[in-house]
Amino acid sequence: MSEGTAKKEEKPRKFQAIRGTRDLLPPETALWNRVEQAAHEAFATFGFGEIRLPIFEPTDLFVRAVGGETDIVSKEMYTFVERPEELELLPSISDLDVFLQKVRQFYKSGEIPPDNLALELVENQLKKVNDSLAGISNRESRDRDIYELIMLFGALRLGNDISLRPEATASVCRAYIEHGMQQLPQPVKLYCMGPMFRRERPQKGRYRQFYQIDAEVLEATRLDAAKDTSKELANDAAVDAEVIEMVMTFFDRLELQGVQLEINSIGCRECRPKYVELLRAALLKVKDKLGPDSQRRIETNPLRVLDSKLESEQPIIATLPHIADHLCEACAKHYSAVKRQLEMRGVIYRENWRLVRGLDYYMRTTFEITAKGLGSQNAVCGGGRYDGLVELLGGPPTKGIGFAIGEDRLILSLQESGKAPAQQGRDVYIAWMGERAHATAIRAAKDLRKAGFSVELPPVEQKFGKALGQADKLGAKYALILGDNEVSEGLWTLKTLADGSQAKYTEPDLLDHLRKSKRVSS
Ligand code: HAM
Repeated sequence: MSEGTAKKEEKPRKFQAIRGTRDLLPPETALWNRVEQAAHEAFATFGFGEIRLPIFEPTDLFVRAVGGETDIVSKEMYTFVERPEELELLPSISDLDVFLQKVRQFYKSGEIPPDNLALELVENQLKKVNDSLAGISNRESRDRDIYELIMLFGALRLGNDISLRPEATASVCRAYIEHGMQQLPQPVKLYCMGPMFRRERPQKGRYRQFYQIDAEVLEATRLDAAKDTSKELANDAAVDAEVIEMVMTFFDRLELQGVQLEINSIGCRECRPKYVELLRAALLKVKDKLGPDSQRRIETNPLRVLDSKLESEQPIIATLPHIADHLCEACAKHYSAVKRQLEMRGVIYRENWRLVRGLDYYMRTTFEITAKGLGSQNAVCGGGRYDGLVELLGGPPTKGIGFAIGEDRLILSLQESGKAPAQQGRDVYIAWMGERAHATAIRAAKDLRKAGFSVELPPVEQKFGKALGQADKLGAKYALILGDNEVSEGLWTLKTLADGSQAKYTEPDLLDHLRKSKRVSS
């Protein structure tokens, strides 16, 4: 290897954020904080409490909740085995009991996931083998029993199959069940915020690590309650409308521009399958005119054809039957009650019969909100009703409705419409010179910070000219000048950087003056 090549190889690798992930930097993070603070405040006025959830969960939770066939679960999840080790294979037949002991411990400590292979199966097989070895069965069946036991042991795997969460609804339902929240006064209103992970093709407004602000309302239903009575339907419609009202109020507070709400009903277990069959039949008639994705979806999930953005398919989709005309009586009643409830709350909506959403758990109400300045990825919020999901995850019969806001997109839209706050400069830059002034400057910085001002204290002495230049660059409002004279006179010089004016203050007067001028400007 030549010296040149060796040198090249020594050069440290330049690391970059992984594709689809990004760093959020100041001053943009100030806007993120403002948005999150506004969410805490707005949601609290609707009686929601914050829940903080893990960012990884058993893969199976998402498979069951979101649906194994959905794009999110089948193509986009970050899934891995926590501790991908195999158990040591059996050393000899005489050690079977010792080995099984180890297996039992791994099950107990959770290192072998409970869904990996039932311990009971292994125990029974070992019993069979022990019986065979005791000479109860013939040689052929003994060999077969041992072989089966070895196969079972071989299939045992340490480590749980886990996934980074692609969304939060499944986790909220898991937590509702785990903490017995059906015992609390119903409905339970929860919200959370944080990163989600989907391995999508990155583009403007679409990331692989993105952030959601998610809200859910869960309500246990009595087992003996008659389903879909007028009262139940009215209750659910009001809850749906209030959840939508909450997110619209939040967007209003943020002055988000170009907000448009679209709603739909996708029916229930009773009426949707019949509509899907009708849709499938209609699609089969026009199959040749559809692209390959839609052709495939005729079989797998015809509803998703309605999502298609392909230009050539639009006139064909326009002729397909609308679900609103095929809802069962209860779903139709519920849908019109939701619309009436939205109107009572002054929430403006548009109906979109093609809004089906890409997650399996929805029923009845679905909705999406778009905003200005986002290009093709313009959905800033999506949500809907998901009665039965908690039950599907092993919990009691429960109704649910919720939404998730794409925070990255929300921020992007606010920035595009000039709603982003300007860079926050320092309030005071302390320009000090001399040993005595240094001690005073440290004390002044401490007192000013305690009073809530943002202060920059240079660590080493600077010439006043340089210090003032630096204060200017940092966008400071004032420079506090502390030299020997100021310290011995007890009169501090305060320079207002915007107009260059200067005045002298005693220490208490200075604090008073700064407080007053802050009140005036805020
Ligand atoms: P979703 O429609 O998959 O619904 O996502 C909600 C929002 O998250 C989208 O409207 C979008 O703003 C944002 N989002 C999704 N994927 C990305 C991405 N790759 N990059 C940036 N933003 C993205 C759900 O997640 C459901 N859990 C909502 C829900 C809650 N339904 C009932 N409760």
